[in-house]
Amino acid sequence: MKDITIAVVGLGSRGRSMLRLAASFPGVTVAAVCDLQPKLWSESQRAGQPSIREEFPNAKFYEDFAVMLAQADFNLLIVETPAHCHAEFCIAGLKAGKHVFSDIPTVRTLQEARDLWDTQLHADTMLMIGANPNEWGFVEALCDFWKQGLLGKPTYLEAEYIHDVRHLWGVSPWRRTRMPILYCTHSLGPLLRVIEGDLRKVSCLSTGAQICGEANQHDLMTAHFHTDDSVVVRLTVSSINYAGCGLHSYRVMGTAGYFERLAERGKSPARCVIRSEKLYGLKQGAELVIDKPRPEYANTPGAQAGHGGADYALFDHFFAALRGGVKKAPINLREGLRMTLPGIYAAESALRGGAELDIRYPWDPDFSTEI
Ligand SMILES: NC(=O)c1ccc[n+]([C@@H]2O[C@H](COP(=O)([O-])OP(=O)(O)OC[C@H]3O[C@@H](n4cnc5c(N)ncnc54)[C@H](O)[C@@H]3O)[C@@H](O)[C@H]2O)c1
Repeated sequence: MKDITIAVVGLGSRGRSMLRLAASFPGVTVAAVCDLQPKLWSESQRAGQPSIREEFPNAKFYEDFAVMLAQADFNLLIVETPAHCHAEFCIAGLKAGKHVFSDIPTVRTLQEARDLWDTQLHADTMLMIGANPNEWGFVEALCDFWKQGLLGKPTYLEAEYIHDVRHLWGVSPWRRTRMPILYCTHSLGPLLRVIEGDLRKVSCLSTGAQICGEANQHDLMTAHFHTDDSVVVRLTVSSINYAGCGLHSYRVMGTAGYFERLAERGKSPARCVIRSEKLYGLKQGAELVIDKPRPEYANTPGAQAGHGGADYALFDHFFAALRGGVKKAPINLREGLRMTLPGIYAAESALRGGAELDIRYPWDPDFSTEI
């Protein structure tokens, strides 16, 4: 596959920036654009910036996804609809013989997980999960430490995603009452790269709606997961808070070492620290001079765009796979479901007052669409 022709569904802020970024790669053209709100086709995102219609005058514009899928000529579908409705577009795209790139979380329900899994099993095309945090430089460094045995076995891991999104409620209404623990992929994705087993049990608690007090809101949710081989993961996600700190923190405690990436605090930048008893002389924590950007792209124009370069890396790796004739996506559906389904079970656990629940995946013989 030499030429990549794109159609995008979902033209919110994320859809527009991902479309522009994808189109900046050589050999990539924009064939079609779909959104329920046609005003977004012609609206500038920022003063002085051309609209999507001005920037891609040869693209065809649609309000109806089914019509775009039936009429437009493209080979890659990019899914950037709200977080609770990705799977239906991925399934339709794969069934129509398109390659698909989908933002995260991968599914909203266990039924969607089963349907998407079954569809992908029978598809000749690839589904790439757009889990951009998996591409951060410090996550690559964590994996490297782990693969080289410097951490031993990770036994306790934690992550926090603390993002007050109230300023986005106007343009993205689905963010207003979304249970934050469902948005667990930014946190679990990187951690699961160094955990061999799947997360198998969860108990989760919610603070409820104590800040704005609106029905169905959860200011902060915190979950404990564990695997069959006694790995414990703690995850806290908040979308309504006054923390004002950086968004993403991670810690990994292993049998032979330690890794942390602590998000920005006030004027203090984010920092990464490693300790290992396997590395000669490393008796104290050593600061790593690496954060989100990936050193291999340091001299690539435009590669720092989008979440510290992670969005660029996603497309770079996926496009290389498409052009190399690879059958397995760089971040595949199994990885997408490993980082998404624990959040669905966690949300249900919180609704049941923290009850411990078993987690199952479509590749388990006893997977059920009921919890
Ligand atoms: N990975 C990241 O770092 C990151 C960052 C921001 C957002 N996101 C994800 O990107 C996605 C989009 O986020 P956003 O902030 O742009 O959301 P948004 O709500 O601003 O935009 C979503 C768009 O999808 C459109 N849409 C909804 N249903 C549709 C349909 N049936 N057919 C056509 N268009 C439809 C809406 O009209 C809207 O314009 C979400 O899943 C979000 O979680 C990921």
